[in-house]
Amino acid sequence: MAFDITRLVADRAGENYELHERYVNPTLVDVFRTIGFDRVYVRGEGAYLWDDRGERYLDMLGGFGVAAIGRSNPVVAGALRDVLGMNLPNMVQMDCALLSGVLAEALVERTPDHLNAVYFCNSGTEAVEASLKFARAATGRDRFVHFRGGWHGLTLGSLSVMGGNDFREGFGHLLPGDEVAVGDLEHLERILAREDTAAVITECIPGHSVRLPPEGFLNEVQALCRRYGTMFVCDEVATGYGRTGRMFAFEHFGLEPDIIATSKALSGGYVPVAAMICRREIYSAVFNRMDRCWVHSSSFGRNALAMVAGLATLSVLDDGDMLRRSAEQGQRLVDAINALRARHDVLKEARGLGCLVAIELTQPSGGAKKVAWDAVHAIHESLFPQLVVMPLLSRHRVLTQVTGSTDPIIRLMPPYVISDDDIRWFADALDDVLARSHRLPGPMLEMGRNVMRAKLHARRGRGAATVEAEPVVTRVR
Ligand SMILES: Cc1ncc(COP(=O)(O)O)c(C=O)c1O
Repeated sequence: MAFDITRLVADRAGENYELHERYVNPTLVDVFRTIGFDRVYVRGEGAYLWDDRGERYLDMLGGFGVAAIGRSNPVVAGALRDVLGMNLPNMVQMDCALLSGVLAEALVERTPDHLNAVYFCNSGTEAVEASLKFARAATGRDRFVHFRGGWHGLTLGSLSVMGGNDFREGFGHLLPGDEVAVGDLEHLERILAREDTAAVITECIPGHSVRLPPEGFLNEVQALCRRYGTMFVCDEVATGYGRTGRMFAFEHFGLEPDIIATSKALSGGYVPVAAMICRREIYSAVFNRMDRCWVHSSSFGRNALAMVAGLATLSVLDDGDMLRRSAEQGQRLVDAINALRARHDVLKEARGLGCLVAIELTQPSGGAKKVAWDAVHAIHESLFPQLVVMPLLSRHRVLTQVTGSTDPIIRLMPPYVISDDDIRWFADALDDVLARSHRLPGPMLEMGRNVMRAKLHARRGRGAATVEAEPVVTRVR
């Protein structure tokens, strides 16, 4: 029988969690069941998802930022369909394909003049890996400096520069380097003065806390890098391509990074793609002889679908006035959330740039809400925001998540196409959930019920119940 993907999707609809439990990551399934996130989404468009019961959800996560220009963007979808119809000679490898050249040109046109060489790969972490390797090749040094609280990806090189969190646990020795607290220029200079650091890597706006660096700090970091011959790497994987209202976040600070790692939004929400963009001299230090022309490469790195997704996404960013939309709608979102502070002292603040927004919660000053906060916070520092995120989904069909920050933070990365009505939808939902947050039995009971449900599933599916208290608190990317 001819392969029919439409039919396959229709025939197997609803088996999602069972399949993943059996063949993929059962622990993740346990977590989704526990926090009530085990929905079956069947459609995504713009800033919305629909489940198998036809319910519409507001997607404030945007697939951790990949769905920046909105899900199922018709321009990107159309370009992908068109290129499939062209039967291009994709991934010949022993040639220089047109589309990767055109996308590289388009990227270089959108970066400062000194960033003029592009390396394509498939994910954010690969772009970070490339940045680290290229920095080593360009400097002949081994070590890296990263900042506390930073996020750079989960392959071994990127993990080595992750800012002091538990994602490293259990994975053995990593690359040599040093962690510096944001703001501690003295410590940074002491390290860089040893002249054994290949690169300092930083997010200009940390995606997990969305806490802006102290005034002038990143410029000082860059100056120290220059002084001691260290590469200055900006990780723009989450912030690139309009997320913060500018094409790249480093533009907000007038920086001149030697290397930038980019990915996520460039995909148009469709095809994995990443680009590391750097100075030509750095690039040439890697590919420095003919026998080293492939010394860093990846089979899928310049594939046609990824290049088309990138090119179409750039055109949507330009034609749809997307950077302005990201800046304006992000600010409206922050303002709408902060307007709730007068009603909820558990709401410390909303902050952000463009459509990268963090909502930080805090201990209320007194009464039932403080009692509730203290009780929940004593169990785990991320449990309270988790108890906000759950009813946002179950009562209001708004998808959010607690971040990997140690602070009680809910991060939002909505598509830039989010409307004023969507912002109202979100603010009303948050208002309602926070108003109920002192009535702890509600969300706690919901979680308890879900834990029992997950245990039952686990017992049925795997012969043993493996649900523990800890995964209830999902801190993710
Ligand atoms: C700033 C930053 N760098 C790197 C990465 C890793 O990207 P990926 O998940 O595509 O490997 C992420 C992912 O969230 C990120 O936010």
